[in-house]
Formats: sequence, C-alpha cells, structure tokens
Amino acid sequence: MNPPASIDTTAALLAEQNYVADRQLATAVFLALKLRRPLFLEGEPGTGKTEIAKVLAAGLRAELIRLQCYEGLDVNSAAYEWNYARQMLEIRLAEASESARDQLAEGLFTGRFLIERPLLRALLPHAVPPVLLIDELDRTDEPFEAYLLEVLSDFQITIPEWKTIKATEPPVVIITSNRTREIHDAVKRRCIYHWVDYPSAARELEIVRRKVPDAKEALSMQIVAFVQKLRQMDLYKLPGVSETIEWSRALLALDAVALDADTVTNTLGVLLKYQDDVGALTPEVAAKIVADVQAEGIKL
Ligand SMILES: Nc1ncnc2c1ncn2[C@@H]1O[C@H](COP(=O)(O)OP(=O)(O)OP(=O)(O)O)[C@@H](O)[C@H]1O
Ligand SMILES: [Mg+2]
Repeated sequence: MNPPASIDTTAALLAEQNYVADRQLATAVFLALKLRRPLFLEGEPGTGKTEIAKVLAAGLRAELIRLQCYEGLDVNSAAYEWNYARQMLEIRLAEASESARDQLAEGLFTGRFLIERPLLRALLPHAVPPVLLIDELDRTDEPFEAYLLEVLSDFQITIPEWKTIKATEPPVVIITSNRTREIHDAVKRRCIYHWVDYPSAARELEIVRRKVPDAKEALSMQIVAFVQKLRQMDLYKLPGVSETIEWSRALLALDAVALDADTVTNTLGVLLKYQDDVGALTPEVAAKIVADVQAEGIKL
C-alpha cells in the first residue's frame, strides 16, 4: 500500500469520500498509515468514528473488514473457529481406509478445517492491505482486549493447535470506542489515540453541504447554528453529526426554507432521542433558540 504522502493528501483523500476532517484528525490518520499503527478513535456517539474506517477503505481501494464488538465476544467469533462438523464428517468418511485415516489425522487441524473470522481474515494476504474496523471495543470485556494485544502489536494470531499466522503486510486498523468504559492502557499504548469531538460550526456546515447537497445554504446554516446551541444545553444526550444530517434531510423532506419554532418542535424526534430532552425543549425554549439563531447568524 502507498500511504498518502502528507497530512494534506490524507485530508484530501478523506474529503474525496465526503469526510470533513480537522487538521488533528487528518494528522492522526496520516501517522497511523505512515507508521502502520492502529488508530484508536474515542468520542461521543455520531461524530464520525466508524465512518473514518469506511472512507479510508473506499479511498485506499481496500477491503473493509468489520468486527462489531459486543459483550461476550470471543475468539471463535472474532478470530477463527475449528469446523468441527466438517472434521467429524471427514473422520467418518476416513474410517473405512487406514491410509485415509492417517492422512486425515495429520491434517485435522490445518487451514482446511479452519473458519476464518474478521481478525484472522485481516491478517491473510490481500492485494491491498485491508482496513480492519474493530467497532465499539468498549462493549466487549477485558479478556477480549487482552487477546487483541497480540494482533495489535505483532499483527499475528497464534492458533495453538496449528501455527502462528502473521500478516506479511499489516492491515490498517481502526478501533472505535464510545467510552462507556475505559479501555486498558496496554491496548491504547499500541495505538495512535485521537479524541473525536463535536465539529466546529464551520466544519459541521461543510459536512451538511456535502451530505445533504440539496439543502439551501441559508437553511443549512440555521440548522447548524441551532444544533451548536443545543450542544451548549444541559441535555442527557447531545445530538451528534448524524442527527444534524438526519434533521437536514427531514427538513428538506418537509420543504422547510427556514427554521421556525413549530417546525423545530414537530421534528424534535429526529434530533433528540430521550423524552427528558424532548421535554426540556418546550416550544418557548425552541422559539428562543430560533430567534437567537436568526439574530446572531452562524458563528464560523
Ligand atoms: N467529519 C465528518 N464528515 C462527514 N460525515 C460525517 C463526519 N462526521 C460524521 N459524519 C456522518 O455522521 C454519521 C455518523 O457517523 P458515524 O456512524 O461514523 O459516527 P460514530 O462516531 O461511529 O457514532 P456511534 O458512536 O454512534 O457509532 C455518518 O453518516 C457520517 O457520514
Ligand atoms: Mg460507530
């Protein structure tokens, strides 16, 4: 793989896929590619962590291999599994002949009977090193994190019954976490760490421009200014970039040309997902924010 030559080309590669990165994120991605280190992205929900892996795969023309983490995720689902059913079947078939039995005994724990799961698949040879997305690592438990250490530091997996499989060229690894719990230092130390924050107004406007190109500029500006103001409120769950994009699409579908208190109140469910938060944004509060947005415009 030819990694981008500079931070600017990295930012351009992301922008080509309609991903608007700030300088810090572009630097982190550039370094991860250049130094071949995993990139650890932590941040609020809906701020573009998972998307980075998708756009990198598209931009680098590489396969995206995704490991979605969940509680109880184990090696059998994440790395590899022996195909016991096939082993049993072939043992039965070989029972008749002594030579077949001996041959089978030697080959029972080799690639033929191995089911490759995402981690192992990412280490096998590819024309272009794949992008391995380990999504929402904070959902797994600590034993799994410990298992990951070998993959992350040496790009290899040891299969005790068979052999150690090492990548000839390391995959691009992106790990995301919503920080519902702290990930162990040992994992983070092997990675380049970046905190993905909510975007500035200017960057969020650029994201809306790219993701909802049909929205009128004046409306997009009001949407972004409104969401930026919501993020200063004391809400249980602040809207992420995905909510801004969804809201823009919703308002576009409703043929809105400008924000008004009624439209905001009627479409709050696109922005806020908790009843307490929806309750806090009474029509009066919504009207006040809309008035402020119209008076102040957007601060870029
Ligand atoms: N900087 C950005 N440029 C372009 N699109 C973005 C950006 N940030 C977020 N988005 C868009 O916002 C949406 C949510 O992004 P994504 O799913 O990557 O968030 P996330 O951080 O992984 O969220 P979660 O923690 O909920 O999984 C996607 O549709 C993505 O395209
Ligand atoms: Mg995600």
